[in-house]
Amino acid sequence: MSKTIVVTGVSSGIGNDLANQLIAANHTVIGISRRQAKDLNYDHFSCDLSNAQAIEETAHKINQKYPTIDAVIHVAGMGIADALEHTNYADAEWIYKVNVLAPFYLNRFLIPNLRQNRNTKIIHVGSLAGTLTIPFQAFYSMSKAALFSYSEALRMELKPFAIHVSIILPGDIKTPFTDHRKNTYQKDDPIYQGRIDRAIQKMAHDEQQGMSASAVTKVILKQLNKRKTPIFETVGLKYKVILMLAKFLPHAIREKIIYHFYAK
Ligand SMILES: NC(=O)c1ccc[n+]([C@@H]2O[C@H](COP(=O)([O-])OP(=O)(O)OC[C@H]3O[C@@H](n4cnc5c(N)ncnc54)[C@H](OP(=O)(O)O)[C@@H]3O)[C@@H](O)[C@H]2O)c1
Repeated sequence: MSKTIVVTGVSSGIGNDLANQLIAANHTVIGISRRQAKDLNYDHFSCDLSNAQAIEETAHKINQKYPTIDAVIHVAGMGIADALEHTNYADAEWIYKVNVLAPFYLNRFLIPNLRQNRNTKIIHVGSLAGTLTIPFQAFYSMSKAALFSYSEALRMELKPFAIHVSIILPGDIKTPFTDHRKNTYQKDDPIYQGRIDRAIQKMAHDEQQGMSASAVTKVILKQLNKRKTPIFETVGLKYKVILMLAKFLPHAIREKIIYHFYAK
């Protein structure tokens, strides 16, 4: 059955792949991003998701034009990299706005619309970095951890309305995310002596060797087609095993491993 689905982050990477596949499956896609995706047959709403007023205006326009939507999928997100000591307040605030407050605020206006139907869905795209904290990308990890908590709480609050809320936790995915990451650090930082750049270069390399955007799309499509969705879901066996190991390993060992890869 054809569904009406709001997707954020349609101009690039995972959101773009998802929108393409939803359109190919005859769903109506209401896309949100700052840039418009070329060659996509969808209804685009240009919106800077770091701007609360823009979010509110966009949501009202969507509600007027589409009074019964079936799902909202929050894919839009950005990365940020620097030492915590060097991170300025405006950047910290901005990443929280894009990665946490935007899903919260957009949902706030779209939930009454979702409530019009039974078994509607809100799917957030989080990150494994929200459960396994990554040094020198701490504000990214922190924002995705906050999104995880938000998603869990929203799920419980909306349960009686049959609005099913979930969060997907991808690992490394090969998309323009790597190039879009806001790197505010200095390569030759005299205090951290190359540690930040080494960590980010390793992360960038892993991302570019990572899974395809369509692997994430596959998980989202599966959730859309189910009546109920899991609390959270990782993408691919490798990351399911990593998450399972992380759960059972003592915290100090976990820290040693992450330090070895991303902080030395
Ligand atoms: N790639 C990975 O390795 C990876 C791993 C785990 C999780 N994730 C998560 O997956 C999601 C999608 O990432 P991706 O890999 O597809 O990255 P991407 O290719 O950089 O796409 C990011 C999307 O977010 C939108 N966006 C960013 N800032 C925005 C803003 N202020 N207002 C409106 N839209 C904004 C961008 O659109 P405009 O620039 O046109 O506004 C773009 O469509 C993110 O939430 C990311 O954290 C990615």
